[in-house]
Amino acid sequence: MQIRLPEGMAATLSVGEVAQRSGVAVSTLHFYEGKGLIHSERTESNHRRYARAVLRRVAFIRVAQRVGIPLADIATALEALPAASAPSRADWTRLSANWRAELDERLAQLKKLRDQLDDCIGCGCLSIDRCRLRNPLDKLGDEGAGPRRLIAKR
Ligand code: FES
Repeated sequence: MQIRLPEGMAATLSVGEVAQRSGVAVSTLHFYEGKGLIHSERTESNHRRYARAVLRRVAFIRVAQRVGIPLADIATALEALPAASAPSRADWTRLSANWRAELDERLAQLKKLRDQLDDCIGCGCLSIDRCRLRNPLDKLGDEGAGPRRLIAKR
C-alpha cells in the first residue's frame, strides 16, 4: 500500500529534520548510524536522507537507552527489522517484555550491591578479607573467616 503524503511533505528527511523532530543531536544520529541502528540513503550530492520511519526507530532507541538497555542489545533487536521500517507496537511489546526480565535481574544485583555498600558505610577498611565490595568473588568468605577449604575437609 502506498501512502500519499500531504503536498509539500518530503518522503524522506534530512539529518537536521530528524534531529529537530526527534530531539536528538545530529552527532548522536551519526553515531547511531555508525553503529547500524539507523540507516540513510545518500543523495547525488552526498547528503543523508532518512525514511520517515527513522523517527520511530530513534524513539525506540532513546526509550530503550533510558531504561539502561545497552546499545549492542538495541542494535541486535533492530537488526531483526527491515532497515527502512519502524518497530511496530507488537515489536515493542515483545522486546520490552524480554528487557523487563533483564531489568529485574539487574535491579536484584543492584539491591545486593546496595546492601553490601550498607556494610561498608562508616567502615572504610577496604579489607580483602572482610569487604565484599573489595573482594566480590570471595564466595568462601560467606562461610566465615579462615582457610574454608581445609576446614571443610576435616
Ligand atoms: S569497607 Fe569495610 S567492609 Fe567494606
